[in-house]
Amino acid sequence: MKQHVAPFGDGTVVLRLVEERDLETILAWRNRDEARVWFKNSAKIAFDAHLAWYRSYLQKEDDFFFLVEADGEPVGQCGIYDIDKVSGRAEVGRFLVAPEMAGNGFIGRSCAEIIRFGTGFLNLSYLFLEVMEQNTKAIRLYARQGFVEESRSAGLIRMGLSPDTTS
Ligand SMILES: CC(C)(COP(=O)(O)OP(=O)(O)OC[C@H]1O[C@@H](n2cnc3c(N)ncnc32)[C@H](O)[C@@H]1OP(=O)(O)O)[C@@H](O)C(=O)NCCC(=O)NCCS
Repeated sequence: MKQHVAPFGDGTVVLRLVEERDLETILAWRNRDEARVWFKNSAKIAFDAHLAWYRSYLQKEDDFFFLVEADGEPVGQCGIYDIDKVSGRAEVGRFLVAPEMAGNGFIGRSCAEIIRFGTGFLNLSYLFLEVMEQNTKAIRLYARQGFVEESRSAGLIRMGLSPDTTS
C-alpha cells in the first residue's frame, strides 16, 4: 500500500498525489503531439489503459506521482519512482506542463520540490533522470536544478544529482 504524502510546495506550486479524478486532465496533456514525442512510450494512450496503469501504480510503494497546482489550478505533473531506500536512489520524471501554463517556471519549481522531497523526506542520496537528447528545453531545466549529464546512449541522456556533492 502506498504511503500517504501530504501536499507540499514552495508557496507558488503545490505538489499533491495524483487522484483518479485528475486522470482525464493529465491524459489530455500527455496525449498532445507536442508532449508525447518526448516520452519513451510516445504512442497515444487510451483512457482505459491510463486508468489500469494508475490502479497498478496505487499498489506500488516505490512510486509517487504528483499533480502540480498553482493558485489551486492544475498546471502540470511530475513523479519520483523506482525508489530504492536501501541504496538511497530513485528516478525522477514524468515532467509535463499544462500547455496554457508553459514557461511560467512551474515545472522548474516542481523539479526543485521533487529534489527536496527525494533528499529530505525520503532521505535519498542520489537522483537521476533520462531525457531525449533533442529535448533541449527539458535538459536546460534539469541542469538549472543541478542535474549533470552522466552518459548518453541511443538518443537518451542520463543526468544525475548527488546533493551531497553539489553546493
Ligand atoms: C519540459 C517542460 C515540462 C518544461 O515546462 P515549462 O513550463 O516550460 O517549464 P518552466 O516554465 O519551469 O521553465 C521553462 C522556461 O521558462 C522560463 N521561466 C522560468 N520561470 C519563469 C518565469 N517566472 N517567467 C517567465 N519565464 C520563466 C525558464 O527560464 C525556461 O526557459 P528556457 O526554456 O528558455 O530555458 C515542458 O516543455 C513540457 O511539458 N514538455 C513536454 C514533455 C516533456 O518534454 N517532459 C520532459 C520529459 S524528460
